[in-house]
Amino acid sequence: MTRFFMGVLATLVIGVALGAAAVYSGTLDVAADTPHSRLVYQIIETAREQSIDRHARDLAVPANLADTERIRRGAGNYAAMCAACHLAPGKADSEIRMGLYPEPPDLARPEEETVAEMAARHFWIIKHGIKASGMPAWSRGGIEDAAIWDLVAFIQKVPSLSAEQYVALVESSEGHSHGGLLAAEAGHPDEAHMPSPGNADSHEHSHSGGHEH
Ligand code: HEC
Repeated sequence: MTRFFMGVLATLVIGVALGAAAVYSGTLDVAADTPHSRLVYQIIETAREQSIDRHARDLAVPANLADTERIRRGAGNYAAMCAACHLAPGKADSEIRMGLYPEPPDLARPEEETVAEMAARHFWIIKHGIKASGMPAWSRGGIEDAAIWDLVAFIQKVPSLSAEQYVALVESSEGHSHGGLLAAEAGHPDEAHMPSPGNADSHEHSHSGGHEH
């Protein structure tokens, strides 16, 4: 019995030592342009899915997500804060999306037609973000729950919009209007939202995407 426990202990010590060696040697690759191994990817994906399921399970979903006012309000915020990473009707890809790992899902073209069932999941992810992925916790920037539900409502609608309908809806919206911390500041409320590569002064910030190369 003692030998058995000594064996277990030795295995644990060796395991911890190998783990520490991998961490401190700098050989682990943190570059976003090399994918995880299959095993690491599966572990992270499972942990992420289980965590989101558990945390979003008991959220009360508002009954009026199909409300056109909600969708309209969500459109302006989506165009200002989300489209750069999650695309939009008529937007094939973006520089920032191509460089992110994991790649943000194209919310204008969901893979499965189950968007309506994903309302609680979407709300939780938008509010809290996902660690080490590039998906921000928007509540940290001051966006209120009601405005997050507006975004969820818009996400349910966006796959059915044409590029023209999308632009018209964004234009009819109050723009970037969630009334959070940044919106409360005087001056340019939305300036700090998107990381803007290059010279910030010459970077024209526009809700309908004014950045051209
Ligand atoms: C800087 C890029 C970036 C921005 C900006 C961004 N996201 Fe994300 N988002 C991501 C990434 C990356 C993921 C995938 C994370 C993962 O799979 O671990 C993600 C995931 C999501 C998901 C989960 C989809 C699913 O079911 O798995 C939703 C919903 C979402 N984002 C909504 C939004 C909304 C709404 C906004 C704007 C308020 C936004 N995102 C802004 C990068 C971004």
